[in-house]
Amino acid sequence: MECVSSRIRNTAGKEIIKEKSPLVEEPYIHPTACVKDSILGRWTAVGARTEMRETVFSDYSYVMNDCQIIYAEIGKFCSIASHTRINPSNHPIWRATSHHFTYRSKFYGFGEDDEEIFQWRRDHKVTLGHDVWIGHGAVILPGVKIGTGAVVGAGSVVTKEVKPYTIVAGVPARVIRRRLSEEVEASLIRIQWWNWTHDQLAEALEDFRCLDAASFAAKYDLFGEILEGKDESLSSKPLGGAFHVQRG
Ligand SMILES: CC(C)(COP(=O)(O)OP(=O)(O)OC[C@H]1O[C@@H](n2cnc3c(N)ncnc32)[C@H](O)[C@@H]1OP(=O)(O)O)[C@@H](O)C(=O)NCCC(=O)NCCS
Repeated sequence: MECVSSRIRNTAGKEIIKEKSPLVEEPYIHPTACVKDSILGRWTAVGARTEMRETVFSDYSYVMNDCQIIYAEIGKFCSIASHTRINPSNHPIWRATSHHFTYRSKFYGFGEDDEEIFQWRRDHKVTLGHDVWIGHGAVILPGVKIGTGAVVGAGSVVTKEVKPYTIVAGVPARVIRRRLSEEVEASLIRIQWWNWTHDQLAEALEDFRCLDAASFAAKYDLFGEILEGKDESLSSKPLGGAFHVQRG
């Protein structure tokens, strides 16, 4: 989904460039994907054969092919690799049987469905902050919260909360390390670049590419400088590419 063109050869060995459409503000949903009762933000993309239900999928987030996402709130700029499952529903294991005929009863001609079970599932939403990267084939279990900037390793099963900017991996997922230093993470959270406008992102693209996270934070975290008392004359400082710092 990230590339807009691919180079392939025809049977005569001649290289042809197949153009793919770039994304637009309106969400892109692959024709084989199934999205129901969900809210999709701007510049979002949903890959082939992915199923999404009752989910909020915020601006710039994308999910690749063959994923399933249900009852989830997903922040901005999240990257979800293929074959990931977010919120595989639990069954009522306290009952005599965990089989779904006790709640999906219409299927079997047993009368009305048991809505309480569906509501119980809905109540165990999965929440992802902003800029979360979920690796290939991960499973995020019901009710789990994953903080902004966190990374989930390929093939992980996430059973518990993941703190912001933490890298977890394995089954069950355990903390490997923090992604950046505590100071840089705090700066990025203050900067909230994920709330910048499309134009502001475009303007800062070179910095996103060329600066490491610490230099990026140093350049844009004006509030951090105030906190540290480093700069007493911010009003006279040229702002350069710095954007407004939004605080909650
Ligand atoms: C999680 C990840 C980002 C960690 O990268 P990293 O910080 O460079 O980690 P390292 O390779 O240094 O590994 C650190 C430890 O974690 C383990 N580890 C890394 N990834 C793991 C994973 N996915 N599952 C289980 N253990 C993992 C390593 O074996 C190593 O263990 P050790 O300390 O016992 O030797 C990376 O391993 C990963 O899983 N990337 C996902 C790639 C992907 O799915 N891409 C999809 C396309 S978007």
